[in-house]
Amino acid sequence: TTTETIVAVDGPAAAGKTTTSRVLMAIFGLRYLESGRIYRIIAAEALRRNLPPDDIAAIEALCEELLSETGPNTALASPRHTPDSLRSPAVTGLVPGVARIPGVRTHATALIRQWAADQAAPCIIEGRDIGTAVFPAAPVKFYLNATPEVRAERRVGQESGLSYPAVLQDILRRDYQDTTRASAPLIPARDAIEIDTTDLTIQQVIHRMATAYRARRGKDKPIRPARA
Ligand code: CDP
Ligand code: CDP
Repeated sequence: TTTETIVAVDGPAAAGKTTTSRVLMAIFGLRYLESGRIYRIIAAEALRRNLPPDDIAAIEALCEELLSETGPNTALASPRHTPDSLRSPAVTGLVPGVARIPGVRTHATALIRQWAADQAAPCIIEGRDIGTAVFPAAPVKFYLNATPEVRAERRVGQESGLSYPAVLQDILRRDYQDTTRASAPLIPARDAIEIDTTDLTIQQVIHRMATAYRARRGKDKPIRPARA
């Protein structure tokens, strides 16, 4: 697929990116990529190999091995790391530290672009920097947000065995790390449609996104690049 058909969904943890993206995928027949999975695989593998997160050269070499040498299909399949293990508190805690390394972002960005280029249909890609850094010319961009407290409540309701104070602390720390890093920080793109989901139901958020997607795409026409 080309940049002209990318839908970018960015925002902080538990803003609703995955849930809404999957529904839009189903409604509009899009290909879907959860880009956080790439950063989680790198962090999980760094943990498994006992690489300290501040050993930048070792982590960059790991990226080279896991992402560049294997290509999107092998890298994203990663059978060693199950969806559950990738979402363990240890991995989640380590990801932002790994994701702030510029070399890691370069490798991950190249992998996401390659994945999109390989798809035969329009794509919806969720993450932190899809609309700002990975596909700045994407014609449809969403930035979902909600208060940290509401997001922590959502995450506790979603995954068993998590305590509210620990999840809130993780969310606040990740918000800080993701928004203050030098390389592709978490921030809404200038042309993103921002949705504060704090007081909305998931159905209301999906409705707004689907309506905006239809409007930007135009009826039965391919979606066109938005004006900058
Ligand atoms: O599901 P949740 O929002 O909690 O996490 P995720 O989307 O799997 O992302 C985990 C972490 O990966 C984030 O906190 C970021 O540090 C990093 N990430 C990133 O830097 N850029 C992306 N495009 C996606 C994720
Ligand atoms: O992908 P991201 O980390 O941004 O969030 P998610 O995993 O899609 O969503 C977090 C949880 O909050 C899910 O269980 C959603 O159903 C729920 N939720 C929501 O995302 N948005 C609302 N307005 C209400 C509930």
